[in-house]
Amino acid sequence: MAVKLMVCKDKGEVARKAADIIAEQIKAKADSVIGLATGSTPEGTYAELAKKNKVGGISFKKVRTFNLDEYLGIDCEHDQSYRYFMNDRLFNHVDIRMWNTHVLNGMAADPGLECLAFEQKILAEGGVDVWLLGIGNNGHIAFNEPGSAPNSRTRIVKLTESTIKANSDGRFFKNPLEVPHHALSAGIGTICEARRIILLATGANKAAAIKAAVEGPMTMDCPASLLQNHADVTFILDEDAVGKLSRK
Ligand code: GLP
Repeated sequence: MAVKLMVCKDKGEVARKAADIIAEQIKAKADSVIGLATGSTPEGTYAELAKKNKVGGISFKKVRTFNLDEYLGIDCEHDQSYRYFMNDRLFNHVDIRMWNTHVLNGMAADPGLECLAFEQKILAEGGVDVWLLGIGNNGHIAFNEPGSAPNSRTRIVKLTESTIKANSDGRFFKNPLEVPHHALSAGIGTICEARRIILLATGANKAAAIKAAVEGPMTMDCPASLLQNHADVTFILDEDAVGKLSRK
């Protein structure tokens, strides 16, 4: 199965296209199960979804969500926690029921059990209809760093130096020393069970990872390349992230 590509002129168009796909999904099935991502890339998509909700285009009242990951040892009130991010960028601005939103708890007394319960909740909700992803500069998806197995499940993972550096460049943490070294992350196997996957990438710093993910071999060295096997995966890219892709 090849990755489908949608090329946009800029990050604004990427956000609108991604929001349109999620909105269509919710219109077709009011109680859709939507997988979500953090990072700066999906922020525009969340703003577009909030706009659509405000004007009555879509309702999140029956929607259930699952987030990809969370830092280990960070409280949900911490402004760098992914729970805080999701509340701030999306959940507080739409009519979603907070109890239908699932973000792994980085302070769980038993993080292994937390990961297991997360997997079970996804199954109990009938699986994910659409999972929105970003991509790290090193090709990671969620916090599945290079070396992650295609059948990996939700688990405790160790972050690489490059991810710690990328997430402390001022957009998020101010200093690499503040970034936790571990996280809880949905596995590649978990993500690939979603019925549809949309991966967003903007900016030239993502071009190398996108080239490896789309045109490189399927390898654990580039976790996003493992999506090539999925039956319905679309990458929505701006011109800069397309970079030197030969297949446009
Ligand atoms: C973090 C998240 C990923 C995200 C990546 C890229 O590592 N765990 O899910 O895709 O950052 O983030 P950004 O969109 O800010 O480049």
